[in-house]
Amino acid sequence: MPAQYEHGGERRVALVTAAAGAGIGAAIARRLADDDYDVVITDAHERRCGAFASQLADEHGREFLSMPLDVTDFDAVDAVTRAVVEKRGRIDALVNNAGWSRIEPVAEMMPDTWLRCLDVDLNGTFYAMRCVLPHMIARGSGAIVNISSIAAWETTAEHGAAYSAAKAGVLALTRVAAAENGRHGIRVNAVAPGLIYNDFLRRIYPGAFFDGYAESRSLVGRVGHPQDIADLVSFLVGERAGYITGEVYGISGGVAPNA
Ligand SMILES: NC(=O)c1ccc[n+]([C@@H]2O[C@H](COP(=O)([O-])OP(=O)(O)OC[C@H]3O[C@@H](n4cnc5c(N)ncnc54)[C@H](O)[C@@H]3O)[C@@H](O)[C@H]2O)c1
Repeated sequence: MPAQYEHGGERRVALVTAAAGAGIGAAIARRLADDDYDVVITDAHERRCGAFASQLADEHGREFLSMPLDVTDFDAVDAVTRAVVEKRGRIDALVNNAGWSRIEPVAEMMPDTWLRCLDVDLNGTFYAMRCVLPHMIARGSGAIVNISSIAAWETTAEHGAAYSAAKAGVLALTRVAAAENGRHGIRVNAVAPGLIYNDFLRRIYPGAFFDGYAESRSLVGRVGHPQDIADLVSFLVGERAGYITGEVYGISGGVAPNA
C-alpha cells in the first residue's frame, strides 16, 4: 500500500532546516521526499532554498514548499511554522539540521563566535521545537530528530568549545523534550555524526584533520557521507522507530562511540 494512504490519504509533512546546503540537510530532504513525505525546504540561503525545491519537484513530479528561514530569528521560525500548518495542515516530522561553527581556542575565542554558534546550533533547535511541538501535541503525533555531533562528548580540541557546548546542549534539549512529549505521541531523538564529508569542511578544518582519517581513525575505512545520516533520520522519523525516543545515535564509523 503506498505510504500516503496509511495517513488519512494525505502525505506526511516534514520540515527540514538548513536543507539547501551541500551536505546533510539536502540529503535528508531528498531521502524524505523519496519516502513520500511532503518536504518543506527551509534554509537561510534564499536562492538555494528555491532552487533545491524546484530540483526536487522535477525529480519527484510534485511540488515542494520552499521557505527561506534563518533559525536564529524566533519570529521567522514562528511565521514559517504557521505558514506550513496553514498550507499543509500538519507537520509530522521536524529535522533540526542547521549548524554553524568557527574553531577558536577558548582562551582566544571572540564572544561573537560563542554567541553565534550557540544561537544557530542550540537556540535555533529550541526555536523550531518550541514552534512545532504545539501543533504536534494538538494532533497527538510527531517525530523530531535533532542533528548534534560527536563533538558533544569527544575530548578534543578539533571542533572548538562553542560547537561542542552547543551540540551537547542539543542532546539535553532532546532528552527533556522526549520526556515531556512521549505521552502526546511524539518522539524526539538526536543523531550525532562524526566526519561527514563536504567540500566546505575542507575549508574550516585544518588539512591534518582529514589526512589519514579514513585509514587511521574510521573503523570502516572511509569517511561518512550525507546519505549515511539521511538513512538513519529516515528510520527515526518513521513508524518502525515507534519504540525509540530520547535516544542519541552516534554515526561516526566507530570513531567516537557514545556508550
Ligand atoms: N559535516 C559534518 O562532518 C558534521 C558532523 C557532525 C555534525 N554535523 C552537523 O550536521 C548539520 C549539517 O551539517 P553539514 O556540514 O552537512 O551542512 P549542510 O550542508 O547540511 O548545512 C549547511 C546549510 O546550513 C544553512 N544555514 C547556516 N546557518 C543557518 C541558519 N542560521 N539558519 C538556517 N540555515 C542555516 C546554510 O545556508 C547551508 O545551506 C549541522 O548541524 C552540523 O553541525 C555535521
